[in-house]
Amino acid sequence: MVKPQGVVTRGTTNPNRLRRVDNWIVETCGDRLRAAADPLVVDLGYGATPVTAVELRARLAAGVRADVRVVGLEIDPVRVTAAQPAADPPGLTFARGGFELAGLRPALVRAFNVLRQYDQGEVAAAWRTITDRLAPGGVLVEGTCDELGRLGGWLLVDAAGPRTLTLAARLTTLESPAQLAERLPKALIHRNVPGERIHDLIRALDDAWQAAAGYAPFGPRQRWVEAVSTLKRSGWPILDRPRRWRRGELTLPWPAISPR
Ligand SMILES: C[S@@+](CC[C@H](N)C(=O)[O-])C[C@H]1O[C@@H](n2cnc3c(N)ncnc32)[C@H](O)[C@@H]1O
Repeated sequence: MVKPQGVVTRGTTNPNRLRRVDNWIVETCGDRLRAAADPLVVDLGYGATPVTAVELRARLAAGVRADVRVVGLEIDPVRVTAAQPAADPPGLTFARGGFELAGLRPALVRAFNVLRQYDQGEVAAAWRTITDRLAPGGVLVEGTCDELGRLGGWLLVDAAGPRTLTLAARLTTLESPAQLAERLPKALIHRNVPGERIHDLIRALDDAWQAAAGYAPFGPRQRWVEAVSTLKRSGWPILDRPRRWRRGELTLPWPAISPR
């Protein structure tokens, strides 16, 4: 057996914590999974309980294809044993594994709140180890969120490297988009300093949100849509459509926010 690559870290997780990224995966990666010869998805680092892997499988089975197979991989063998009662083969299984993906060749890997506990300098190698093992055309969705999943940020990464950054917030509890800075993916969180593009983005988004205060009486969705529209008008290459913005999301190409 190949030695799992990585280290055991805190296992904090919560029901529905990953709902935002799961919905984004269904919408954004759904066609890719529908076209996959083998609809295999890995949830890497599911944590102390397998609840978010169970939810990922349910969301993909309902929203993408009923024959999806989700394998939850954990580097901590105790968590693999603890997850077994939640298994529902062949659609949902749990095994020990790390960045090497335990020999699997999935079409998609979701790795959430995993790299957050590694050093920034380890991120690129982890991405490479994972993406080298994906099925052809496969993708990694790697990011971070808060305990309840109200603030999050994730990257879509493929064999060529990172492609997009998505920021997502629960708008009804959002005070200011600057709060998203705390939940940036590991590759960006230490780059939120003057002179870096991600810093410019967070500032521009925050300024646009403040400038859109007049929309607050119509609800935070209208205010967010106006703020994102302002960013787009000012030249930020926003990739997604107002339908996603209304959910409190924003997606940009990696070169627009990549570290200098
Ligand atoms: C904070 S929990 C995240 C749980 C869940 N993904 C979530 O977002 O709620 C991180 C988990 O990742 C696991 N982990 C860390 N490095 C790993 C690796 N290289 N391969 C697999 N699991 C890993 C840890 O053991 C821990 O259980």
